[in-house]
Amino acid sequence: MPEIKRIAVNTGGGDAPGLNAVIRAVVLSATRLGWEVLGIKRGYDGLLDPSQVRPLTEEDVRGITAMGGTILGTTNKGNPFEYPMKQPDGSVKAVDRSAEVVSNFKKLGLDALVAIGGDGSLRIAKRFNDLGVPVVGVPKTIDNDLQSTVVTFGFDTAVGIATDALDKLHSTAESHRRVMVVEVMGRYAGWIALNAGVSSTSDVILIPEIPFDIEKVCEKIRDREARGREFSIVVVAEGAVPKGGSMSTVGAKEVGREVRLGGICAAVAAEIEKRTGKETRSLVLGHLQRGGGPTTFDRLIALRFGAAAVRAIQEGQFGGMVALNPPTVTLVPLAEAVAKMKQVPLDCDTIKTARSLGVCLGD
Ligand code: F6P
Repeated sequence: MPEIKRIAVNTGGGDAPGLNAVIRAVVLSATRLGWEVLGIKRGYDGLLDPSQVRPLTEEDVRGITAMGGTILGTTNKGNPFEYPMKQPDGSVKAVDRSAEVVSNFKKLGLDALVAIGGDGSLRIAKRFNDLGVPVVGVPKTIDNDLQSTVVTFGFDTAVGIATDALDKLHSTAESHRRVMVVEVMGRYAGWIALNAGVSSTSDVILIPEIPFDIEKVCEKIRDREARGREFSIVVVAEGAVPKGGSMSTVGAKEVGREVRLGGICAAVAAEIEKRTGKETRSLVLGHLQRGGGPTTFDRLIALRFGAAAVRAIQEGQFGGMVALNPPTVTLVPLAEAVAKMKQVPLDCDTIKTARSLGVCLGD
């Protein structure tokens, strides 16, 4: 067993409800073992500038379990292996600053790092682990697109927020006999759209895994109309693609961060209105899905993940990610967790359920 005295924790990538609960569990579990905990601000940025590292005590994590966001801040532009640096000519170039991170980690006398993040941040965590920084990962993302864990924390909250919004839109859509097209997050995976769409009894659900035919969507709307259902709710994942088309993105790709997705919802709404003649409105739920506190499910998973990460460090097990494998939380290799994205399997039970209930999936 390694002798542990001081560990660090960071939160990287887009925030997700439950981050503070993980931080609390890490700090309390580690403090009870007599370890010191340092909080690194904004992903790995704090390890590039050690003035951005601060001790975390029991006092600092009091009352934060139910709080949204992250007390450490986060960024999705801070990959130290491809750090965006402004050049004298005004352009931005990706620079490898990973050696500075490793050196500052050692200078701070750290024995291990709990890296809380999604696929991007955990991929970075794995590279640091390979460079000799002892890391344990914690899977966070509202997108639920990480392999090797049944679920990531943040997902349940995002699905709940999206379902609630879709429920509310039903009554106004029906009153005005409109079609409402709602864009939800999820990047290249349709988990949020599928789960919220089915739970809210939406009529059409478009996900990245099933390229859609807009005519099939319109057929569904016309068919409902013919049966006296003069309104329809269409859920579109931000990464949904029309057959033969490509993903809708916003702006140009910035150095050191992933391309932004968005815009599919307005395009789908315009096409539906043109083809069916029905008044069609679009709505992007956006960051609302990441806002506010976590659901009970996410809180509990986050606390369990944080405590399990500290147990892994205590046992000297590094290079892994804590994962929900009911009924327990286990440790899986980081390499396995980030090897492939977890998309919705087309033969999964929820897809079958949607089809059985007559939901149009655009195919
Ligand atoms: O990965 C989480 C997520 O919310 C995605 O669903 C979405 O595409 C992305 O982050 C948005 O990122 P940003 O907040 O940087 O626009």
